[in-house]
Amino acid sequence: MTHESQVMIELIHKYKVLIFSFLIGLSLLAMVAIGVVSKAPDGSVIFRREGCSGCHSFRGRGGGAGPELTGVTARRTGRWIREEIRNPKSHNPNSRMPEFSHLTEGEIKALIKYLGER
Ligand code: HEC
Repeated sequence: MTHESQVMIELIHKYKVLIFSFLIGLSLLAMVAIGVVSKAPDGSVIFRREGCSGCHSFRGRGGGAGPELTGVTARRTGRWIREEIRNPKSHNPNSRMPEFSHLTEGEIKALIKYLGER
């Protein structure tokens, strides 16, 4: 064995705890990063964040300026609801519902899924 490789092995032995902890830390960090990035949007969070409940009652809670949304997925198709959220004036030119065109497809999907829960 060359002198250099012996030195390397000694170094690894000396710092093995450190190297091991570093690798564990790195994989934990990677898992957290993956979890944050791939987390599916939560419809109930979006519903509250966007203020939908200020105008709509859903499952017994919320405002009364807009129609009750409990069971809306039984009355309307997902496509119709998506359009209503993004561009309410397309269904009713005098609609008082604001446009939520800033929402992503994923967020709208999550909202519709949430509205289908009872
Ligand atoms: C400022 C009040 C207001 C806010 C905020 C609001 N809406 Fe509305 N929404 C209405 C009104 C009023 C209607 C009735 C239809 C119309 O006027 O166009 C309506 C209609 C709807 C309908 C159709 C219901 C039906 O049975 O025809 C859906 C679905 C809907 N809103 C979902 C949402 C969602 C989801 C949000 C949040 C992203 C939201 N609304 C935010 C006022 C609001």
